[in-house]
Amino acid sequence: MNPTPKFPDGFLWGTATAAHQIEGSPLADGAGPSIWTRFAHTPGMTVNGDTGDIACDHYRRWKDDVALMRELGMQAYRFSVSWSRVLPEGVGRINQKGLDFYSRLVDELLANGIEPLLTLYHWDLPAALDDRGGWLNRDCADWFAEYGSVLYRALDGRVKKWVTLNEPWVITDGGYLHGALAPGHRSKYEAPIASHNLMRAHGAAVQAYRAIGAHQIGLVVNIEPKYPASDLADDAAAVARAHAYMNEQYLHPALLGRYPGELQEVFGHAWPEWPVGDFDLIRQPLDFVGINYYTRSVTRAAETYPLNAEAVRQDDALYTETGWEVFPQGLTDTLLWFKRTYGDLPVYVTENGAAFPDPERVENGVVHDPLRVEYLRSHLRAVHAAIEAGVDVRGYMLWSLMDNMEWSLGYSKRFGIVHVDYDTLERTPKDSARFYSRVVSSHGAALAGGDGDAEGTTRTILALPGQ
Ligand code: BGC
Repeated sequence: MNPTPKFPDGFLWGTATAAHQIEGSPLADGAGPSIWTRFAHTPGMTVNGDTGDIACDHYRRWKDDVALMRELGMQAYRFSVSWSRVLPEGVGRINQKGLDFYSRLVDELLANGIEPLLTLYHWDLPAALDDRGGWLNRDCADWFAEYGSVLYRALDGRVKKWVTLNEPWVITDGGYLHGALAPGHRSKYEAPIASHNLMRAHGAAVQAYRAIGAHQIGLVVNIEPKYPASDLADDAAAVARAHAYMNEQYLHPALLGRYPGELQEVFGHAWPEWPVGDFDLIRQPLDFVGINYYTRSVTRAAETYPLNAEAVRQDDALYTETGWEVFPQGLTDTLLWFKRTYGDLPVYVTENGAAFPDPERVENGVVHDPLRVEYLRSHLRAVHAAIEAGVDVRGYMLWSLMDNMEWSLGYSKRFGIVHVDYDTLERTPKDSARFYSRVVSSHGAALAGGDGDAEGTTRTILALPGQ
């Protein structure tokens, strides 16, 4: 039996989603297209040709979804705004109906006692701005600050926690280097430019917030800790490259005002000389950092593009349906590393969760998802361990409230604690939703034990060798 964990007073428990993954109706009420509407409608870009046209139909079912969160006892909800609903051309003309959607959502959350955490950008750039070069155009910093300002003016005060970008690494690695995500470019030369401009846009949006807003703003990054596959010096160097590329590339400039040296080595002559003044814009005081954690990677040197490093599969580990090793200790290590490297800034875990092969159909109103329950339990304990070790973790936003469009993997992977039937769009809380609900209502005390309750069998499942 594990001792009862104590989480700090005010620790915020919630779930997370993103606009394009749940809303559907992407062109309703005067919205402009985004790069994700275009990308998903291009043959071959998503599994089964899935698009976000319907998704979870949250754009029309938002009220029921808020009611569901309340039923589950959620205290917070992290969601993102679709830029091209609010500004169909990305800048200039405001589409009031688009803005009203988010205003109503925020009001409904507050009326139900749920604190909104608003992400300005979760990957759905207005197509009109992509036509002007998107994140490759230095003007994107002004565009993003303008967009942010529209929302700050409309919602600050009702929204007290703001996020500029979600996971700049994924935006760049998927969208500009490997092409698996919108806008689907594959260029080693573009990737550093897109990254740098994303960070300039982040800085400009924070600056704009300080002029208009009176609450808190931060940046959300995905961190995947790297562990060496051996004692070989080559593997240690591979770890340093992978770590710099994935974990430090964004936090270093945002918090320290410089890039890690290894990026020059990774990108070679594709790594430009940056105007020194850019770092003054990028490095803005932040109120918090959001960390998304899913997995780790055990890394070794290999001839791969462009990192010359690869992940080594662990024989005795459990892997999720997206091929990610379940490694809760990595979350503790990540939070400790953050504090060691960047100091005492407050941290939220802004995403954490897993796709496992759930039953496709709901039987008798229930969905048993024991692996997800155990994933959550072990990762929440890992968060608790970091808090005990002195990291200022202020909250946990589980990914995800409900099954949704997993980007280019379409609807083939389910991350939700609420099951969505994609034919009827009916929502059914899974066992993991009931479990998380108990964790929240007990302020973490329900994480104690784990061997004797309804989900206890999963401990045995997790102990089994990888699938
Ligand atoms: C993203 C989510 C995504 C999740 C699972 C994160 O990288 O922010 O949008 O669905 O991971 O892949």
